Amino acid sequence: MKIHIITIFPESFQSYLDSSIIWKAREKGLLDISLYKLNDFSTKNFKHVDDKAFWTHWQVISPEPLGKAINHIFEKVWKKIPVVYMTPSWKLLNQKKVETFSKKLNEFIIICGHYEWIDQRIIDLYVNYEISIWKYVLTSWELASMVFIDSIARFIPNVLWNPLSLEEESFSKKLSGKKEFPHYTRPRVFEWLEVPNVLTSWNHKEIDDWKSNNLK
Ligand SMILES: C[S@@+](CC[C@H](N)C(=O)[O-])C[C@H]1O[C@@H](n2cnc3c(N)ncnc32)[C@H](O)[C@@H]1O
Repeated sequence: MKIHIITIFPESFQSYLDSSIIWKAREKGLLDISLYKLNDFSTKNFKHVDDKAFWTHWQVISPEPLGKAINHIFEKVWKKIPVVYMTPSWKLLNQKKVETFSKKLNEFIIICGHYEWIDQRIIDLYVNYEISIWKYVLTSWELASMVFIDSIARFIPNVLWNPLSLEEESFSKKLSGKKEFPHYTRPRVFEWLEVPNVLTSWNHKEIDDWKSNNLK
């Protein structure tokens, strides 16, 4: 999977991209992420990329640098690729959509703006998918993008060390769309709470029954 991220704050992605499973996926060449600094596409003084909105006092990201950055990526990859825009809206993300997106989006652009909004004409002209990660408002466009990237990246074959993790986890078919059962490790007693006896019994049938009965 190839993801092109347009942002004013490329540095805010770095520790996330350089850690854990996402870092390993990049190392193995399964996930390729390119960051583009939006200000590099500005022709204004001091590389400004925003302006005052016509109808309010809010600052809005101007269409020109975003349009330029998107077209730069289209030219670089020799084709038009889907453009994703994270936004608080009713187009809510869920596990089913995550799975579909992970298959559908082989290579795509994700736009991160700043301030309150980007110029609507960029959405009208270029955006293919508007996605909300849930019904609340974040300050960081980058954070919303990372949540989306993280959710779809784990479906890329071989990104997860154990493919069974995808089969038997919350929302999966195998668990009838329910939340996964609780897990325990050593010690057997912590504070006053004991690991359920059945889990240390080695009785697979009883353990399977316990797992099914403890889905939520
Ligand atoms: C401060 S918010 C802008 C909120 C916008 N003024 C509104 O009223 O809907 C800045 C950006 O963070 C991202 N963001 C915030 N909450 C989000 C959510 N729930 N899902 C997806 N993206 C979100 C979006 O890119 C959003 O444009």
